[in-house]
Amino acid sequence: MEAIYSTKSFNRILPLLFRVFFSLPSSRYNENQPKPHSLHLPRGSFDCVLPDPSNIFSPHLLSSPLPTNSFFQNFTLNNGDQPEYIHPYLIKSSNSSLSLSYPSRKVSSSEISQVFNADLTITSQQASSGKHVISSYSDLSVTLDIPSRNLSFFLVRGSPYLTFSATKPSLLSITTIHSLVSFSSNDSLTKFTMKFHNGQTWLLYASSPINFSTIHSGKTLPQITSNGFSGTIRIALLPESDSKLETVLDKFSLCYPVSGKAVFREPFCVEYHWETNGVGDLLMLAHPLHLQLLCNEDSHVTVLDDFKYKSIDGGLVGVVASNSWVLKADPVFVTWHSSKGIPKAKARDEIMSALRKDVDYLNSSSITTNESYFYGKLIARAARLALIAEEVCCLDVIPEVRLYLKETIVPWLEGTFYGNGFLYDNKWGGIMTEQGSSNNANVDHGFGVYNDHHYNLGYFIYGIAVLTKLDPAWGMNYKAQAYSLVQDYMNLGTNSNLNYTRLRCFDPYLLHSWAGGLTVFRDGRSQQNTSEAVNAYYSAALLGLVYGDANLVTLGSTLTALEILGAKMWWHVEEGGDMYEKEFGEGNRIVGVLWSNKRDSRLWFTSAERRECRLGIHVLPLLPISEVLFSNVEYVKQLVDWTLPALNRHDVCDGWKGFIYALEGIYDNECALRKIKRLKDFDDGNSLTNLLWWVHSRGD
Ligand SMILES: *[C@@H]1O[C@H](CO)[C@@H](O)[C@H](O)[C@H]1NC(C)=O
Ligand SMILES: *[C@@H]1O[C@H](CO)[C@@H](O)[C@H](O)[C@H]1NC(C)=O
Ligand SMILES: *[C@@H]1O[C@H](CO)[C@@H](O)[C@H](O)[C@H]1NC(C)=O
Ligand SMILES: *[C@@H]1O[C@H](CO)[C@@H](O)[C@H](O)[C@H]1NC(C)=O
Ligand SMILES: *[C@@H]1O[C@H](CO)[C@@H](O)[C@H](O)[C@H]1NC(C)=O
Ligand SMILES: *[C@@H]1O[C@H](CO)[C@@H](O)[C@H](O)[C@H]1NC(C)=O
Ligand SMILES: *[C@@H]1O[C@H](CO)[C@@H](O)[C@H](O)[C@H]1NC(C)=O
Ligand SMILES: *[C@@H]1O[C@H](CO)[C@@H](O)[C@H](O)[C@H]1NC(C)=O
Repeated sequence: MEAIYSTKSFNRILPLLFRVFFSLPSSRYNENQPKPHSLHLPRGSFDCVLPDPSNIFSPHLLSSPLPTNSFFQNFTLNNGDQPEYIHPYLIKSSNSSLSLSYPSRKVSSSEISQVFNADLTITSQQASSGKHVISSYSDLSVTLDIPSRNLSFFLVRGSPYLTFSATKPSLLSITTIHSLVSFSSNDSLTKFTMKFHNGQTWLLYASSPINFSTIHSGKTLPQITSNGFSGTIRIALLPESDSKLETVLDKFSLCYPVSGKAVFREPFCVEYHWETNGVGDLLMLAHPLHLQLLCNEDSHVTVLDDFKYKSIDGGLVGVVASNSWVLKADPVFVTWHSSKGIPKAKARDEIMSALRKDVDYLNSSSITTNESYFYGKLIARAARLALIAEEVCCLDVIPEVRLYLKETIVPWLEGTFYGNGFLYDNKWGGIMTEQGSSNNANVDHGFGVYNDHHYNLGYFIYGIAVLTKLDPAWGMNYKAQAYSLVQDYMNLGTNSNLNYTRLRCFDPYLLHSWAGGLTVFRDGRSQQNTSEAVNAYYSAALLGLVYGDANLVTLGSTLTALEILGAKMWWHVEEGGDMYEKEFGEGNRIVGVLWSNKRDSRLWFTSAERRECRLGIHVLPLLPISEVLFSNVEYVKQLVDWTLPALNRHDVCDGWKGFIYALEGIYDNECALRKIKRLKDFDDGNSLTNLLWWVHSRGD
């Protein structure tokens, strides 16, 4: 697991640079298109570590940028035969079949994970061979076709039914790893009930009558086969043997979703619009954050409180609507400075004296890293100094910071930075770093396989936004580059942007981001650093402010608000909360790495015992927006109390301590201040100035 963050040697870079700059443009590159002024990302196809999208995406999808951190990412890697979590089921497909699992959970004090079991495997008995393909995808769905079997699966997130269509008369076959207790149908041969020995009951609905027969032959798995059938089949687990739940599933079996879009029309609001077939209302499942945000005053949606499925993301509850939901979050105001300011002159003086030292140090020290993550952190750290200077009215240091920002940012935007730089990958459609484009997926924190784009680029965007605020003319000069960087991880895929996939990291169903890109990990995609994800969207909103771009401000602010809600819902573990099982919840006040199928107390880079890191990684970078992320003072206190004992170890770095004291400062300002003043060292993205600014701007 640590492998991805080991900083390996870069001695391959030079030959690679040659390859990259001189590689032939792929079909996506049109020589005749005018190149916008001052925008010159070298393009290429970086075959080394990136999977080949044509293995799984159907050809007509290949000409647009492709999603890289998506909810169906496993389908796009290697043979595309690993499971994905399409709530409430884990779905695994192979060349010729698709398996469905209603996952069980394994719980310990250090992790929770979901377990895949092929409860049902669906195929049809055609002799021909071939492989499965993704024929379309949307924010809330992916359609997986098995052309050789004439089967098409509409995998829509949050549908209690798995829906597929047999496009030609097919002999369907359903197998299970369990033993079959009973299999029965109703009189019209359109509804079937399967009971398994493990206690599960599954219901199957057919759009027209179908004859099934069952084969139990000794040692082989039970098999249910049909006569020739074409039409639509829906299969749902009956979550409890309760006739009321069965009535609900019967009633809504007639309307099925085939795709779904998340629409960001108004600030702090997401609308889901599903495209449906059939008749009647649409039954879907909502997770706890959906329920918190769902607007049902207008009675267009009905929440079925008793209709529940299990999920690692919390209980899923049935919601009936015609074909859309509206989710509304409280507004979050993105600001450059703290909300309360620093009224006390003595506090301002204290910050100023630290500020002068930190600014002096900026120019006397040289940057030794060329990794985009660490470099971006240094840029953002310096940018903080300029904004703090504004807040405490110490304007004379600003020119020095401005100069530093220019000198550090421009080489990356001009493509003249030695040792790294931004490129454009034609294969999947997105920004890539020179280091990342090597044949080692671990280099540059996996940037080349689309890991962490929002973290790394978010830091750059923060620096660019601040520099543009200080020097608008500079900002106008580099606007095109700034937009490329931000659009790589945050754009809505309108016609004006043909280069980057829509919302690369943000997951419109779960309402938080994924950092993991195109790599197979033991537990699927993940996100660890929630506060860096918040920074990415917050910085995007700041960029919108500085360029007077209302759309960018709105989308950045909306995703900031949602990412914060997601972090509070799934990573912040309050005492006595009911998101996770007691066994895990009691000893963990924060989730380390959150995986699609797992909650881990460990971090990518260290063990669960190092609680100072677990806290710190969810706080950095410390910004005005951190106020909103840690607005629940009761929880903050629980988290700090849980972390403090870890500081008795001898190997705790001052850098991490700074973040604990910052949170302590929310409820015990003086104590935190005393501790902060004793620190000798700070995280590479943090500074004494920033900590003093934070503590002194908490208000009374
Ligand atoms: C799936 O299909 C591909 C392409 O036809 C083939 O290379 C691969 O071996 C198949 N996989 C299995 C498990 O049959
Ligand atoms: C059904 O599958 C067969 C065998 O692969 C194929 O020849 C045929 O075109 C398919 N029909 C449809 C409607 O997809
Ligand atoms: C089901 O099988 C029975 C007996 O073979 C047959 O009479 C009936 O027509 C079949 N129904 C369908 C829908 O295929
Ligand atoms: C069988 O079940 C389906 C789905 O609930 C229903 O539409 C149909 O009316 C039922 N047929 C009979 C004869 O009860
Ligand atoms: C990038 O930084 C590393 C670590 O300082 C150094 O070893 C390497 O030579 C640098 N690469 C280039 C091309 O400057
Ligand atoms: C983005 O797309 C436009 C239009 O296709 C193109 O002119 C431009 O060079 C692209 N930008 C980047 C960064 O590749
Ligand atoms: C994706 O595949 C990996 C590797 O098999 C697996 O461990 C992980 O659980 C899968 N992700 C999901 C969401 O099932
Ligand atoms: C999160 O933060 C750590 C420590 O700062 C860093 O090494 C890592 O690259 C970041 N991203 C992930 C996914 O851990």
